[in-house]
Amino acid sequence: IQTNCLLLQLAPKYLHTNSTSHTWPFGAIAELIDNAYDPDVSAKQFWINKTMIKEKLCLTFMDNGNGLDHETMHKMLSFGYSDKTAKKGHVPIGMYGNGFKSGSMRLGKDAIVFSKSESGMCIGMLSQTYLELIGADQIQVPIVCITERNLSSYILFN
Ligand SMILES: Nc1ncnc2c1ncn2[C@@H]1O[C@H](COP(=O)(O)OP(=O)(O)OP(=O)(O)O)[C@@H](O)[C@H]1O
Ligand SMILES: [Mg+2]
Repeated sequence: IQTNCLLLQLAPKYLHTNSTSHTWPFGAIAELIDNAYDPDVSAKQFWINKTMIKEKLCLTFMDNGNGLDHETMHKMLSFGYSDKTAKKGHVPIGMYGNGFKSGSMRLGKDAIVFSKSESGMCIGMLSQTYLELIGADQIQVPIVCITERNLSSYILFN
């Protein structure tokens, strides 16, 4: 199990600031759809749902494309990392390394990303509520990854 907390040299309020580029919530949803469609993920299906978790309204976005490992989850929840390339003529939409952060933070105050890939499972959290609660003066992003090898022992011992 690999656990770490990404510390960005950015104030927590930047998450909101950056999200205001989406005047329309549908532009924010489009960022998440674009990411699933892009050639690195190449999802064939995409599901959007509305659900209640602990009396809070949540939107869930799920795709069946390629997942993330620890390193790519790190990049997804940071700013400015984007290394998408065209695959078989499928040209990527994303290029700035910003859309997920601006889009998700426009739709809600908190986002949790669950991902499964060949190497295991990974969870990352971008949460304005959490940062407010701990009085953070920098953006902190907790990431937990369970690799396939650890996964079997995790299941065995729990
Ligand atoms: N649904 C997803 N599945 C797997 N990886 C994803 C998914 N969404 C985003 N990513 C990864 O997270 C990275 C960051 O996404 P983000 O939307 O912030 O930037 P981008 O798509 O590279 O550029 P842009 O800002 O132009 O959208 C992507 O480059 C991609 O590697
Ligand atoms: Mg994008």
